[in-house]
Amino acid sequence: MGKQQAIGIIDSGVGGLTVAREVIRQLPREQIVYFGDNARCPYGSRSVEEIRMFTNQMVQFVQCYPIKALVIACNTAAAVVLEEVREQTAVPVIGVIEPGARAAISASRMGRIGIIGTETTIRVGAYQRVLHRLKPDLYTVGMACPSFVPLVESGMYHAPEARRIVEETIAPLVHEELDTLILGCTHYPLLAPLIEQVIGGEVTLISSAEETARELSALLSLHDLHAEDTTEKPKHRFFTSGDEQIFRQIGEEWLGFAIDVEAKSLEEIVPAASSNW
Ligand code: DGL
Repeated sequence: MGKQQAIGIIDSGVGGLTVAREVIRQLPREQIVYFGDNARCPYGSRSVEEIRMFTNQMVQFVQCYPIKALVIACNTAAAVVLEEVREQTAVPVIGVIEPGARAAISASRMGRIGIIGTETTIRVGAYQRVLHRLKPDLYTVGMACPSFVPLVESGMYHAPEARRIVEETIAPLVHEELDTLILGCTHYPLLAPLIEQVIGGEVTLISSAEETARELSALLSLHDLHAEDTTEKPKHRFFTSGDEQIFRQIGEEWLGFAIDVEAKSLEEIVPAASSNW
């Protein structure tokens, strides 16, 4: 593994860009290879078997590019297969759940933490498990928000009905007297302004992105893998199994710079997975 190799980042779609942005901000010398499986998004309402298979295919795909570390920037995938991917992958692997849980605990003043995420992330209790392991006396409440990911993936998160959908979905949480709300899906930071309007400015919103990038940095230090400073700007690569235009539009808006996006058909990804290259 070389220091100049890239960081692999995978997600079911554009959500992992919220993590990519933070990695680029905190680790500007690092180069990113990103894969978004937009064609099969959302993962959150799929079976555990499908999530496992699709995630393994994404992992195989990004490993076609020399990467030195892998970030599973998808709570749903991390909730289901993080340990398994760690065991099977030669490079260090991190997820987004532990970093998000830690950030929430340090932000929480009264120990009342809400978690919003996909159906799978909430159903398997991924955050609750980590939160209670780290601090057993917390009050936690989880809520699945299945309508949020399609809103983001379609680029409709600025549309007027987005506010109505967010309001209707998370209204029950308003009465929970939370002090902290974990955005337990990497797509949700794109809806953060709307979520904040509904839940109230006194509730701290936690996105795993910052803490995940910090953990990645620590991991690179541990393995002595931080990229060397060179005169060349890192060249990030973005791949999607879906529509490159929509991916580029959301990616450029979120990252704040122009990106090259390459579409990969599922046929190009799945053989890569099965032949293990
Ligand atoms: N962005 C993903 C997550 O963090 C998954 C969304 C989905 O595909 O349902 O859970």
